[in-house]
Amino acid sequence: MDGNGRWASQRGRPRLFGHHAGGKRVREVIEACPDAGVEYLTIFAFSTENWKRTQVEVAGLMSLFRRYILKEAREVHNFGARVRFIGDRVQLDRKLVALMDELETLTENNTRVHLTVALNYGGRDEVARATKRLAEDVAAGKLKPDEVTEETLPNYLDTCVLPDPDLVIRTSGEARISNFLLWQSAYAEYEFIDTLWPDFKRDEFIRLCQSYGNRDRRYGGLK
Ligand code: IPE
Ligand code: MG
Repeated sequence: MDGNGRWASQRGRPRLFGHHAGGKRVREVIEACPDAGVEYLTIFAFSTENWKRTQVEVAGLMSLFRRYILKEAREVHNFGARVRFIGDRVQLDRKLVALMDELETLTENNTRVHLTVALNYGGRDEVARATKRLAEDVAAGKLKPDEVTEETLPNYLDTCVLPDPDLVIRTSGEARISNFLLWQSAYAEYEFIDTLWPDFKRDEFIRLCQSYGNRDRRYGGLK
């Protein structure tokens, strides 16, 4: 969800104004998922690198996340979305983590859309945390070194119960991955679009998902 800051600057407003506007777009995209044929949606809300921003912006984002969960939890639940969070919760405010846990529990039996929110998430951080737990299991004799494979390693990732992404959409004209689902998106298709996140609407999302359907995926093999 990139481009909130530039969207606000273009209007001569503070960056947090852009984050608010971006927040309002999230539910529209969640609710477009069934029509777009999307069962699993992952949104990148805050990266492990975003702590480098000013204290005002970080605090504003954290308070936005709290208020957003409080305000949207019912709607998202009534829509039938199952919500999960990925990322490192240890550094997050305890009150925010409590709200995240509550939302996961509230929605745990929903199946219409699986929504994953990446919050304090970084692909490298995730692999490092996974490797630590894997090493602990090896040291404890629960897993043999020979059993560390492409199939078993993902069990230690935050996304262990989720499928790999088929399509990754990055808004705001930047053509980079920025530490998002590094392991999981090895064979993902990418769309880098110029639209700033607060301008990203249902129609564009559905159009991108439809055009994904025409792509020829070979996973390094032949047709
Ligand atoms: C939103 O966009 C991403 C978040 C960290 C919430 P940005 O804040 O990166 O916006 P730009 O890139 O400065 O326009
Ligand atoms: Mg940005």
